[in-house]
Amino acid sequence: MKTSFKLASVSEVSCDAIGLPLFQGWKKPDSNFLEVDKKSNGFVQQILKEEGFKGKEGEVLVIHMRGEVGAKRVLVLGLGSNEKFTKDTVRRAAGTFARKAQALKLKKIALPLIGQEKFGPGDSAHAIVEGALLGTYSFKKYKTENDENSFPEELVLVDRDKRKAVRAKDGLKFGEIFSKATCLARNLANEPASSLTPTDLATIARKIAQDAGVTCSILTKKEIEKLGMGGLIGVSKGSVEEPRFIALSYKPKGKSAKKVALIGKGITFDSGGLSLKPADAMEKMKNDMSGAATVLGVFSAIKEIRPKYEVLGIIAATENMPSGSALKPGDVLRIMNGKTVEVVNTDAEGRLILADALFYAVKEGADELIDIATLTKACSIALGPQITGVMSNNKALLKRVISAADRAGEKFWELPLEQEYRDTLRSDIADMKNSGGREGGAVIAGLFLKEFVDEKPWVHLDIAGPSWVEKDEPTCSKGPSGVGVRTFLTYLSSK
Ligand code: BES
Ligand code: MN
Ligand code: ZN
Repeated sequence: MKTSFKLASVSEVSCDAIGLPLFQGWKKPDSNFLEVDKKSNGFVQQILKEEGFKGKEGEVLVIHMRGEVGAKRVLVLGLGSNEKFTKDTVRRAAGTFARKAQALKLKKIALPLIGQEKFGPGDSAHAIVEGALLGTYSFKKYKTENDENSFPEELVLVDRDKRKAVRAKDGLKFGEIFSKATCLARNLANEPASSLTPTDLATIARKIAQDAGVTCSILTKKEIEKLGMGGLIGVSKGSVEEPRFIALSYKPKGKSAKKVALIGKGITFDSGGLSLKPADAMEKMKNDMSGAATVLGVFSAIKEIRPKYEVLGIIAATENMPSGSALKPGDVLRIMNGKTVEVVNTDAEGRLILADALFYAVKEGADELIDIATLTKACSIALGPQITGVMSNNKALLKRVISAADRAGEKFWELPLEQEYRDTLRSDIADMKNSGGREGGAVIAGLFLKEFVDEKPWVHLDIAGPSWVEKDEPTCSKGPSGVGVRTFLTYLSSK
């Protein structure tokens, strides 16, 4: 979908549909709504009354116009209570609007800058464009009949005020950048595991790095072995596919004050290994590289964001498969930093590969580490399908990451790294075990990772819940969500 800004009023713009937002109980209808209603001699309000439109969030009513305004249709969009109105309300309203237009196969749609009084024209445009682009995303690559994707073709944001144009256009541009990067992450996570192996992921990473003008080094199995990454090698043993270790590196033009490492879990398929998952738990495990997909999404946009400091993108990629050569429960692995791990459960594989990746980032001189991983079912049980679990050893970094998530409209919640639980990871024969049982599973996984960050400021994001949306939402259809991309881009945009 093409997006643009036009100096025009909502009644002038010619299009297949103009969206007009309305609060619950029709509270304080805005000037745009009143203008269109007036042009139609009260027709819009009359229909709303007759149809019993309340203005509840997500409610949409399609009204066919008769030439009174430039738009063929008015789509009235319920915003819910005006007290609960946030930027996410704007994002969702735009998503609902664009999805409805998609279902109706409309080509050109338009919206006023919803919420600009509260958030300014830039943030309004940013949120609207994100809502529309993310809401109408779908993965149609393997659908034989596939036409829906092309609708709507064009979204026009309208406002009459010249002074707002620059900010609106700027917001629109960033809305596009953030959405494109998120959709790239969604595409990667949607791709079936057999068509996105660790080697494929590395090829894609190299292409993204080239396009972004950043350096990219890809380590093969031999090189991974040489570096002593026993976690990654161990997990890969059961698969016919070779593992890959991917490191992207962005450097700013001027002097850099710090080096931030973004580390993604890249399990391209998680069968559980010999600790095999039951069939229904395995169904979506092509998604177990969502953390890696997020990191690649971020790097696809990095030259537009131009962070003021160095950024490393690090991905440990492998399948987790059972076979005659697979890692066995009871095996002991040595992670790159020299610590030994007794593998009591081969399905707790994410932490094994992340341990190597985190330590690699430390060795590369990272000052801040942020990892993102579909790590534990326990986290999704604790926080549900929408919320990312956040754990950290550093209050200041934690605060900045959570603030970025807030601004980006992603839901993050802190879980405590309770040191007393560290005992559950005690092994009789090695430095630690890779699993400490089911209770507090998300926190224990966090405590495991903490052993490999060498006391560097570090944040761990467990996206097992929000990486996959179970039912259609205004800004995300069922399937991979690309969670984290917007938060990271927001984080990297700030000092
Ligand atoms: N990839 C899974 C976690 C997961 C489960 C993500 C469901 C998304 C949806 C991870 O590798 C895993 O299997 N974790 C185990 C750890 C346990 C064996 C300690 C889990 O959560 O059950
Ligand atoms: Mn697993
Ligand atoms: Zn996994």
